[in-house]
Amino acid sequence: MEPQAEPKPIPLMTPYKMGASLDLAHRVVLAPLTRQRSYGNVPQPHAAVYYGQRATPGGMLITEATGVSDTAQGYTDTPGVWTAEQAEAWRPVVDAVHAKGALFFCQLWHVGRVSKYGFQPGGAAPVSSTERMVGPQVRHDGSTKEFSPPRRLAAEEIPMIVDDFRKATRNAINAGTYMRT
Ligand SMILES: Cc1cc2nc3c(=O)[nH]c(=O)nc-3n(C[C@H](O)[C@H](O)[C@H](O)COP(=O)(O)O)c2cc1C
Repeated sequence: MEPQAEPKPIPLMTPYKMGASLDLAHRVVLAPLTRQRSYGNVPQPHAAVYYGQRATPGGMLITEATGVSDTAQGYTDTPGVWTAEQAEAWRPVVDAVHAKGALFFCQLWHVGRVSKYGFQPGGAAPVSSTERMVGPQVRHDGSTKEFSPPRRLAAEEIPMIVDDFRKATRNAINAGTYMRT
């Protein structure tokens, strides 16, 4: 009998070297997916279950978009990583992913003008690069989502936003994201 040919590997399931040093065992990546279950902007214990379930040895996950500051907010109950409490709350989530042998990146965001007064500290205008408003958006259920007129940041305020990203990045790294397993 002829020997059976080796089955061809499924490309999606082949290893991938990402950048200089990150070795993925396969190419199935969890894209960042906003979940709106982080009450008070603090990741909850069930996030460890959710992300842990989606982690595989040598896989890669990206967190849901995670706020860098109180002005970064525009959606209810999205997680943050700008306070010590938030960073601590990420730790067991990161541990659950690493326990399965996957890489975990934190997606940092600032929503800019995609926000409204109610999400902003002191009910202030959302901060942006422009004073032009975002037009109303129609949700999947047909309802309309509206935004507040933004305030254009002065040039000298921009370093503060950069600094928010810097601090959030440090917190995310301290919580264990973007580390080799
Ligand atoms: C419910 C939902 C939430 C999402 N949240 C984010 C997010 O937090 N950050 C982001 O960059 N993309 C987000 N996306 C976009 C997805 O990560 C993905 O890029 C998008 O669904 C396109 O991929 P697809 O063509 O495979 O659907 C979201 C998409 C959905 C459907």
